[in-house]
Amino acid sequence: METKPNTLIVNNIEVAIEGERNLLEVIRKAGIDLPTFCYHSELSIYGACRLCLVEIVGKGVTAACATAPRPGMVIKTETAQLRNMRKINIELLLANHKRECPSCVRSNSCNLQDIARRLGVNEIRYKQTETTLPIDDSSVSLVRDPNKCVLCGDCVRVCSELQSVGAIDFAFRGTKARVAPAFDKNLNEVECVNCGQCAAVCPTGAIVPKPDYDNVWADLNNPEKVVVAQIAPAVRVALGEYFNCPTGTNVEGQMISALRMMGFDYVYDTCFSADMTIFEEATELLDRIQNGGKLPMFTSCCPAWVKFAETYYPEMLPNLSSTRSPQQIFGAVARQTLPAKLGIKPENLVIVSIMPCVAKKFEAKLDKFKREGRPDVDHVVTTVGLAQMIKSMGINMMNLEPDSFDMPLGFSTGGGVIFGATGGVMEAALRYAVEKLEGKPLAKVDFKEVRGMDYLREATYNVAGKEVKIAVVHTLAAARKLIEKIKAGEVDYQFVEVMSCPGGCVAGGGQPINTTPGFRQQRAAGLYSADKSRRLQKSQDNFMVEKCYQENFGGHPGSHEAHEALHTRYQNRCQIFDARQNVLSGSAEKKLPICVTICTQQKDCNGQKLLSELVGFVKANGVAEMVDIDAAFSSRPQVEGTIGVTIGDLVLDMEDCSVETLGKSILDGIKAL
Ligand code: SF4
Ligand code: SF4
Ligand code: SF4
Ligand code: FES
Repeated sequence: METKPNTLIVNNIEVAIEGERNLLEVIRKAGIDLPTFCYHSELSIYGACRLCLVEIVGKGVTAACATAPRPGMVIKTETAQLRNMRKINIELLLANHKRECPSCVRSNSCNLQDIARRLGVNEIRYKQTETTLPIDDSSVSLVRDPNKCVLCGDCVRVCSELQSVGAIDFAFRGTKARVAPAFDKNLNEVECVNCGQCAAVCPTGAIVPKPDYDNVWADLNNPEKVVVAQIAPAVRVALGEYFNCPTGTNVEGQMISALRMMGFDYVYDTCFSADMTIFEEATELLDRIQNGGKLPMFTSCCPAWVKFAETYYPEMLPNLSSTRSPQQIFGAVARQTLPAKLGIKPENLVIVSIMPCVAKKFEAKLDKFKREGRPDVDHVVTTVGLAQMIKSMGINMMNLEPDSFDMPLGFSTGGGVIFGATGGVMEAALRYAVEKLEGKPLAKVDFKEVRGMDYLREATYNVAGKEVKIAVVHTLAAARKLIEKIKAGEVDYQFVEVMSCPGGCVAGGGQPINTTPGFRQQRAAGLYSADKSRRLQKSQDNFMVEKCYQENFGGHPGSHEAHEALHTRYQNRCQIFDARQNVLSGSAEKKLPICVTICTQQKDCNGQKLLSELVGFVKANGVAEMVDIDAAFSSRPQVEGTIGVTIGDLVLDMEDCSVETLGKSILDGIKAL
């Protein structure tokens, strides 16, 4: 068959080569979905799984993902030999695999299961492996089961290439080869930032979000408890995929009905607290711009990004907005206001977050978000977890009549809704800040320059005679690159939005697995269309948030009360692993944990002096048996605004600490044990 220049033949069909980086992409463009495990268009090519094998006529069999397309090539994707080779590969993988499909959370969304079915694998001709490796469930966000790993390396490459973290890698050789955190440690012992992108690319059940639904069912079935849900923006445009809706369909109304059928007493919207986040964060930004505060200011709604900054850039922590994330603002507002509003005992209120994100599981468990030992958010369920709960009850969600959120914490504007897409927080903040700076209503609410999927977007606005420069980045590798440029003085901005997940929360680690091209854009489009259809699109127009400030938080954003309840502080996590040391261990059954951070680089580190003073204090006051005092070591100096000392749930900056102030907190903490 004669071909035109720059075309090739795939199964007798002529296909144009249009800049694709490999044969696999040309073949997929021709409408043939070759099976793959180890290919991701955004990652480097690994070429290990050998599933994408094709025949180049006259040349032989090759992996399509690792072969450049050339004009005139004649490709066959389906021959008896290719079919047999793929089948053998899958059978070998299955022989080394813990086959427990009925109880695996990835059943029905598992690439291995899907490909085995497609290839008609009815029996496995190889001997089943007998070794069982331990499951790592040390992380609060993820569970790793190496017995289900097919060694495709997708997780390793996403962690190092997209997130620039490198928390996991290949370990050992030959038949012992596996993927593991450094030195074969547990995931919670290495510098994992809990973003969950490894779970989002894993083709099997080898890395999955940690489930929390048993605890939720237990509370839903407890008649004494009043269980409320808050639902993050990105959930509504992804949940429908589990119920066969096109990608990006907004199923908000049906989802609310399903939650009511499951027994949730009240269903609220995290978009409410996203609006409140904008009140606080934009007020903080304006204050920094007008009063010479630390700039650029970085957003702080993504807990994986916050942990990344705490781990790799503690010197930049004063640049992070101190505003809590929408999840934690909701938790704080709900704990403070709902018991009285609903006429219930505070201890009976259970707050469940439905999130697209597994880093939120980590965030909800942080001590700094607890009051009197109880977390502001009790349980975090992912979008996929919710879908599984709905299915397990046999609810046919898409047949339900749509319902509405409960008020007042279910009221939101378009500004809160777009938080789920990369650029959304920036756009909502711009809608607020530009209007306040200009002192007149915005002529247009859309800031389209900040939308899109480029890893870095920049814009400059002239607002009331001032130049406001902003940047939006997603993925932590892009964030790292930008921070290095900021530190080198090559770029400068007033405000930077960072989201860890590619595309923002719409593609969070707790969302349904989706590998179709453009799925992030389609989910983001669902959010922007929800924004357009809202009567109010600016967070500052949320009158329920206004009322909430008047009744509970000092009347306006930035008030003392708002700072106490809606802001947070950060921790220098640049600690030397395994270098935490116990200095004093009391013998009482109940003890107060105390930890002081010491910098190994600073000879005059305040932490060293404080530590010995605290040990002296507890001994002098006869309470040494009631405390555990640890020293944590950091290789970087403590910076303003980061945690220097923790006493039980209390977290303190080093500069707020003296033995006098801490002594009182220690005695109070012991009394409350
Ligand atoms: S959660 Fe993120 S940081 Fe942790 S191992 Fe997975 S990809 Fe890496
Ligand atoms: S854990 Fe998953 S993504 Fe990582 S190598 Fe194994 S199968 Fe691939
Ligand atoms: S981008 Fe969103 S989903 Fe991803 S880790 Fe951050 S908050 Fe979670
Ligand atoms: S997808 Fe080509 S070798 Fe794995």
